[in-house]
Amino acid sequence: MPKKRPIGIFDSGVGGLSVLRHVRAELPFEDILYLADQAHVPYGPRPQSEIQQFSQNITRFLLNQGAKVIVVACNTASAAALTHLRATFPDVPFVGMEPAIKPGVAGTRTGKVGVLATSRTFDSQKYASLLIRFANGVQVLEDPCVGLVDAIERGELDAAATHTLLQTILHPMVAEGIDTLILGCTHFPFVQPLIRQIIGPDIAIIDPAPAVARQTRRVLQQTNQGTRSGRAGQTHLVTSGPLTTFTAQVAHLLEYHSDLTIIHRQINSETRLI
Ligand code: DGL
Repeated sequence: MPKKRPIGIFDSGVGGLSVLRHVRAELPFEDILYLADQAHVPYGPRPQSEIQQFSQNITRFLLNQGAKVIVVACNTASAAALTHLRATFPDVPFVGMEPAIKPGVAGTRTGKVGVLATSRTFDSQKYASLLIRFANGVQVLEDPCVGLVDAIERGELDAAATHTLLQTILHPMVAEGIDTLILGCTHFPFVQPLIRQIIGPDIAIIDPAPAVARQTRRVLQQTNQGTRSGRAGQTHLVTSGPLTTFTAQVAHLLEYHSDLTIIHRQINSETRLI
C-alpha cells in the first residue's frame, strides 16, 4: 500500500496543538506531521523577515517529508509570512489563520469586541485589512498579551502569575463592555478555562481552530488528496527545541494517543527526517 502523505502543520511552539486536535477530529484518517519551532519561540516580538525565513525553512522541511498541504497553525506566522510562502511555493496548498474579526463583529451586540494576539499580528497589513473590511462601526480593543505565550510554553496554564497577567489584560476589556473575545493566537485556547473564569459566562469566546480544520478538509477535497478510509491517522510531532520539555508539554496539552511519536530535529531548509 502506498505511504500516506501527511498534513503538515507548524507553529512557533505548542500553540498549534490547539489546532492539531481539531484537525485530527475532523480528519481522523489523515496522517499529521506537526513541527513546533521551539528553538525560536516566541515569534511575536521578532521581525517579519526572520519569521518569513523560519516559515520557509519549516515549509521546506514538511514538504521534504511529503506533506500534501501546509497548515500554518500560527496567527503570527500567517500574518508575517503567508503571502511570502504562497509566492515561494506556488504549487503548495496552504491553510492560514487570522484573528476572527468577521464572525466576532457579526456576533456583537454591545458593539465592542476584544482581540488577544501578538504584537506582530496586530502590526501586520493583514490585520489592518481585516479591520478595514469587517470592523465597521465596532470598537475593537486589542492586547498583545506580553509574556502570555512564554507562560503557556512553560506549561503555566493555571499558575497564579498567569492568572494575574490575564486579569490585567481582560479586566479593562470587560469594564469597557466587550461581549465577544477573539483568540488571535493559537497558544491562547490552552488558557481558555482561566479566561472564562475571569470574564464570566456571558462573553463569547471565539477560537478559529474548528474553522481551520474544516478549511483543511475543504482544501484536501478540492485538491483531491483526502483520505476517507483505511487505518486511523498517525501523528508525528517534531520540535526544534528540547525533546524532554516538549514531550512533557504534549502529555499535558493533548489527550493520550497511541499513534503519536515525538522527536527532536534542528530545522533548516535541508533537514529530512530520514
Ligand atoms: N501561536 C502563535 C500565534 O498564533 C504565536 C506565538 C508566538 O509569539 O510565537 O500567533
